[in-house]
Amino acid sequence: MDTIGSTLPSDPTLPPVVMPACPIERKLKGQKALVTGASSGIGKGIAIGLGHAGADVVVNYVSGPADAEAVVEEIKRCGGGNSYAHRCDVSNEAEVRQMFERMREDFGTIDILVNNAGLQQDAPFEEMTLAQWNKVIGVNLTGQFLCAREAVREFKRRGVQPAVSCAAGKIICISSVHDVIPWAGHVNYAASKGGVSLMMKSIAQEVAPWRIRVNAISPGAIRTPINMKAWDTIEAYTELMKLVPYKRIGEVDDIARAAAWLASDDSDYITGATIYLDGGMTLYPGFETGG
Ligand code: BGC
Repeated sequence: MDTIGSTLPSDPTLPPVVMPACPIERKLKGQKALVTGASSGIGKGIAIGLGHAGADVVVNYVSGPADAEAVVEEIKRCGGGNSYAHRCDVSNEAEVRQMFERMREDFGTIDILVNNAGLQQDAPFEEMTLAQWNKVIGVNLTGQFLCAREAVREFKRRGVQPAVSCAAGKIICISSVHDVIPWAGHVNYAASKGGVSLMMKSIAQEVAPWRIRVNAISPGAIRTPINMKAWDTIEAYTELMKLVPYKRIGEVDDIARAAAWLASDDSDYITGATIYLDGGMTLYPGFETGG
């Protein structure tokens, strides 16, 4: 029988799942958000999603200014909020400080930080260079530390503004299913995401009394350039679906919606939590047929 369920897993040529249009509910109106690594992939989707929800958004990027400007234009168009692009390497302390200073000057403060910037530099373990290790840990883990620290300083300085949000600030760390699933050939990446997981929980524990919420989203396989080899041919997509009980690849919109909700007061009692947004990838799919 030719149902969607039987064709989708093996056919990457089918168009992406189309979500119902976002209800135009400006839940984040008046809030100032910074999304790192927002010129492409998941970060781009989240920046636009927060824009849809009414936030003013700083679009951080490290390369490709034209792509970042396109995201800025889309945010202004769809949400009516303010937006600008800012180049900064999140693993560089001085550049991160400067990015937050400018945000305070231009937007007055920050209410939402989405720690998204991340990369992969894969290699078999015995061939992995120190440069590859340091680069991935530097951007994926140290970058999140540096940005979270600046955000917490500002949240504490400013405190809760009840007209804006019940919380003094929200941090969303974009982690990965590989904060719990070991990943051969990607030791630096898995180590960085495992680090993000406990860094997030430890910060959450420390800053909760100031009404600062810190949570993580751990995406599985999302259709972005970082993992194109895993979905752009029928063979690769079929292999990938063996790891996804829900039998479809994730779209950036799946992540954007969850991020907008986690940043809103609708999730006000949630802190220190990780949402696995993975179509069941963390459900040990190898056990689907026995054990
Ligand atoms: C990685 C992707 C991978 C996915 C699932 C993500 O964190 O960046 O390359 O497809 O995990 O394995």
